[in-house]
Amino acid sequence: MNKKFYITTPIYYPSAKPHMGHAYSSIIADFFARFKKIDGYDIHFLTGTDEHGLKIQKAAKDNNMDPQSFCDDISKTFMELSKILNLTNTDFIRTTEKRHKLSVQSLWSELERKEDIYLSKYSGWYSISDEAFYGENEIEEFDGIKRAIASKSTVEWMDEESYFFRLSKWEKPLLDYYEKNPDFIAPSSRRNEVISFVKSGLKDLSISRKSFSWGIKVPNDQDHVIYVWLDALTNYISALNYPNTKDELYKKFWPASLHLIGKDILRFHAIYWPAFLLAANLPLPRKIYSHGWILSGDEKMSKSRGNILDPLDIIDKYGLDPLRYYLIKEVSFGNDGNISQERLEDCINSDLANNFGNLCQRVVTFANKNCDNTIPVKDKFNKDDLIILNKFKLDLDIIRKKIDEQDINFYINYIVSRLFEANKYFNDQEPWKKKANPERLKTIVYTTLEVIRKICIMLFPVIPQTSLRALKIFDITEKEIDFSSLVDHDFLKCGKKINNIDILFKKIIREND
Ligand code: MSP
Repeated sequence: MNKKFYITTPIYYPSAKPHMGHAYSSIIADFFARFKKIDGYDIHFLTGTDEHGLKIQKAAKDNNMDPQSFCDDISKTFMELSKILNLTNTDFIRTTEKRHKLSVQSLWSELERKEDIYLSKYSGWYSISDEAFYGENEIEEFDGIKRAIASKSTVEWMDEESYFFRLSKWEKPLLDYYEKNPDFIAPSSRRNEVISFVKSGLKDLSISRKSFSWGIKVPNDQDHVIYVWLDALTNYISALNYPNTKDELYKKFWPASLHLIGKDILRFHAIYWPAFLLAANLPLPRKIYSHGWILSGDEKMSKSRGNILDPLDIIDKYGLDPLRYYLIKEVSFGNDGNISQERLEDCINSDLANNFGNLCQRVVTFANKNCDNTIPVKDKFNKDDLIILNKFKLDLDIIRKKIDEQDINFYINYIVSRLFEANKYFNDQEPWKKKANPERLKTIVYTTLEVIRKICIMLFPVIPQTSLRALKIFDITEKEIDFSSLVDHDFLKCGKKINNIDILFKKIIREND
């Protein structure tokens, strides 16, 4: 099989248990992984935890734990969340694993061999919360405290012997690469941001620390640990068994198809990571898409701001699929989005219960009563039937293209439009008035069932559990879901039994309803 797709989430800091922002990145990545899977791709989907560095060492100390036990505990909660979110990740990497450490040290040695690393001294601002170095022009004093302008996190002055990576040497090659590969960084506003940052001049990057020990040791210099971002970024290849570039996994899946990240970590992914790869003479990922933040009020949701929303609470209250649907539909992808329980309830009531759930129930009940519990034998499709059926067929390649442009909002709005049309079609065709014309009645039911089947397939990447429950109507299992089958108008076998299904979504009754 030569259609393959390697997607990654950022690896999360296990400094505290996961929140909605983390769940968001993971759910979106899962959406793409599932879509590509049903479109015939072989998938590698990586997520994990980023466990080294001062931030984690401090968090462990605050909890009176040694860093390894602390990471073991919290990383487990991220692993559990992956299951609760029903992610289809094929691997979960922890940067404290041996396979990763070996890989990071090999990349370091490779950069050293290429003479891209030298020993010097770093004097400048550092944010522990962001694990990032900031220039004087990126710092401001807020409330008498020096903070990074972009993240508002506090910075401290650092004066330390450090190894440096010759980032400045890669300024021109990076700019050339961005120019030749206009889709490398998306959305385009973020691409422009990166280009102007690089054009303003790149300084060499400090890539080791001497003043603490929680990290991967620099090869041949036990006094230094490797900068946590050089360590973390390498996860994308350590999970493919780098440095063994002959390994099947590496050969098959590198370069990655898509690194999905939040906008807060764009610089690391769009500048540092490609520079390390260029220096090591390794291929660059095909695309880096940086999405916006889930806000709480006007602020980024984050542990350090104490404004987090626990995805588990929302899932307990509403279920997983409504949360997935809501995050995919209501956050304009690429931009920041606010979470509102009211909007989530609107989605459940109008889109999921009414538009989708009701349609399925209604048509199944009608078919059971009037078509002997079976998929009816259809007559010739008329013009109206063909319009609604052909729509999917005609749009198949547009949908694929939009997915490759990460236009999630197009995808979900497309489904919503098809749902409206399906409901309208069934109402307008009035099969209940066609008892005298059973051929026509059966053809209307067949057409609507076919459309429901197609919609369920499209919904699979968004609300997988419910899509599968609905596909039980036709006895279609997960393995049989195939995006290409949207072109078929007569996929459903006439005479086959129709299964009843339970209500797909219960409406939320609100006090003021
Ligand atoms: N460990 C680094 C990433 C290393 S990747 C090689 C890191 N971790 S993090 O836990 O702080 O955040 C990781 C990602 O979680 C963010 O880039 C973003 O994708 C997601 N989010 C964290 N908070 C978020 C929001 N409030 N909203 C949306 N996503 C956010 O940075």
